[in-house]
Amino acid sequence: MTTPRLRPLLDRMGTYKPGRRPAAGQDLSRLASNETPFPLLPQVVAAVSAALADSNRYPDPAAVRLTEALAAKHGVDVGRIAVGCGSVQLVQELVEISCDAGDEVLFGWRSFEAYPTLTTIAGAVPVEVPLRDAHLDLPAMAAAVTERTRLVLLCSPNNPTGPALAESDVKAFLEAVPRHVLVVLDEAYHEFVDDPLAVDGTRLQASYPNLLVLRTFSKAYGLAGLRVGYAIAGSPEVAGALRQVHLPFAVSVAAQAAALASLDAAPQLLAQVAEVVAEREPLRQRLREIGWDVPESQGNFVWLPAGADSDRVAQVFEDHGVLVRCFSGDGLRITVARPADSERVLVAARAAVQPTVTAPVASS
Ligand SMILES: Cc1ncc(COP(=O)(O)O)c(C=O)c1O
Repeated sequence: MTTPRLRPLLDRMGTYKPGRRPAAGQDLSRLASNETPFPLLPQVVAAVSAALADSNRYPDPAAVRLTEALAAKHGVDVGRIAVGCGSVQLVQELVEISCDAGDEVLFGWRSFEAYPTLTTIAGAVPVEVPLRDAHLDLPAMAAAVTERTRLVLLCSPNNPTGPALAESDVKAFLEAVPRHVLVVLDEAYHEFVDDPLAVDGTRLQASYPNLLVLRTFSKAYGLAGLRVGYAIAGSPEVAGALRQVHLPFAVSVAAQAAALASLDAAPQLLAQVAEVVAEREPLRQRLREIGWDVPESQGNFVWLPAGADSDRVAQVFEDHGVLVRCFSGDGLRITVARPADSERVLVAARAAVQPTVTAPVASS
């Protein structure tokens, strides 16, 4: 039977593997997708419910109220904000606005899963620069910029390994990269950062208009299921280009309302973030005591470099009621959530580091 002819590059691409979800009734710690463990606040639920009643209408395609609120929050002109159906949609749009076929997109590896996929789909060429000790290697990335480089994706804190970039290192990188190259700082986990030396891209944009910052409502603001992210561009031209390629009506009425209500609830949500941050370093230290070489993390997750053993270790975690994200052959990413989740993680981590030795059968 003849099948429709599809693009050959699909054969070269992987398929996005979402974190596993528990079956109905299963009591598992869901630590595979860096979501917040806290349910939506009542006022956010109320805003979403009100929005649903209005959902026979298309959403505001320009998300005007949300765009204005974000511009006010960041003290920038509305023309520099672009809103998307999750920040992952903005990554896709960033490749679309910067790359023709064969142009290069540079990023560290391992980093956010979507970077190579979205680059390849667009017909651009992913250029992966290996991490150094779980950190993005900015000097090596600067050295990898070529005539064909159109976009650089810096993830800070880096998903899945955890470290954040230092502001001074990002400045040095931006000095080394030609100003016609669009540099993106993907700060999906920005609100979890407590290192004062870590970069906040919005502080650098006055000097580097080729720098664009991505933020999301999916993590600290707890709206992963509603899908809203945004870009703060260094220049209005870049934000305008994002709006040009934007899929119309991609951010739903409910998502826009939820994001606005969450901005109003920021103090409550940031208090939840503080709980997760307080959990992070003690969990890392205890994992290290058990024998796992967990790098520092500034996100709401920690990285277990289990290498070739990753599949087995992930299975041990699952057997202990903990769903984690397994990157086969490389390591596991574990979301930091509540204290009870951390306790489960530690039990599993101990079991995984000491594979059960079958007791010798006593001879009679
Ligand atoms: C580094 C990074 N960027 C972007 C995203 C996409 O987030 P969303 O599309 O939910 O805003 C994620 C999600 O896990 C992420 O880890």
